[in-house]
Amino acid sequence: MSNAADDQSTLLKNGGFTATNAPGVAPVTGKGGHPAYFSCWDIHAYYGESYIVQGVSFDIREGEIVALLGRNGAGKTSTLRAIARLDDPNLTHGEIWLDHKPLHTMKSHDAAQSGIGLVPEDRRIIQGLTVEENLQLAQIAPPMGWSIERIYELFPRLGERRTQEGTTLSGGEQQMLAISRALARDVKLLLLDEPYEGLAPVIVQEIERTLEEIKSHGMTTIIVEQNAIAALHLADRAIILDMGQVVFDGTAQEVLDNSELRQQYLAI
Ligand SMILES: Nc1ncnc2c1ncn2[C@@H]1O[C@H](COP(=O)(O)OP(=O)(O)O)[C@@H](O)[C@H]1O
Ligand SMILES: [Mg+2]
Repeated sequence: MSNAADDQSTLLKNGGFTATNAPGVAPVTGKGGHPAYFSCWDIHAYYGESYIVQGVSFDIREGEIVALLGRNGAGKTSTLRAIARLDDPNLTHGEIWLDHKPLHTMKSHDAAQSGIGLVPEDRRIIQGLTVEENLQLAQIAPPMGWSIERIYELFPRLGERRTQEGTTLSGGEQQMLAISRALARDVKLLLLDEPYEGLAPVIVQEIERTLEEIKSHGMTTIIVEQNAIAALHLADRAIILDMGQVVFDGTAQEVLDNSELRQQYLAI
């Protein structure tokens, strides 16, 4: 049996690179010639034979919040998963850089160690563990992020429920715990996949307030949301995906002001 990690690196070494787009030669600098804090460049990813992420490129400045939007099936989750270097979808081409580290050469574990914090749609609260144990597990290996006490200051309800089993929390509280687990590690880029999904409006407002607070601490974030208006109010920038490609990259305000764009790609 072949080693998956070896296959991956072979693909990335030989996967269609030419002299001008070989790793290390790509335009990984942002505007003004400074390296972007986060940069993905011409990434392509597949689920088996299904070609889903079709040459996505964008940069993010440190401290910026980017709303990654698009219709259902546009490729938002797949793009986040490719950035987090999960096995599926399989990244076959392109470069991903975070704070000068080449994530495209890594597996998910190393990408997480290098600062990627993915909060998936299903939240993945660990069964049988209390709130506090879920947080302690996130801090089992350095580098450490926020202290557990600081997290309880951000989400007092988690502090009140620290001895309660995580899976018995309400949906909103589970989302708070999922975000907290990422903050408990030394996250440089927080990836939030539909953090408001399935939550009552009053809980959405509560999570929005805490995301505003996380933003005020300078956390660089990509937020994927079906509730595009809520995401645009939080975000500085918006990137719209359609059929696995970037069709818009601009300010969040431009999308709020452009009803044609919203109707075409977001159906709102
Ligand atoms: N595990 C998978 N295997 C095969 N195709 C998938 C898988 N997950 C998603 N897809 C397909 O990839 C496309 C993009 O999906 P996804 O990234 O989840 O979109 P979004 O998050 O924007 O709704 C869809 O056409 C979807 O059917
Ligand atoms: Mg999705």
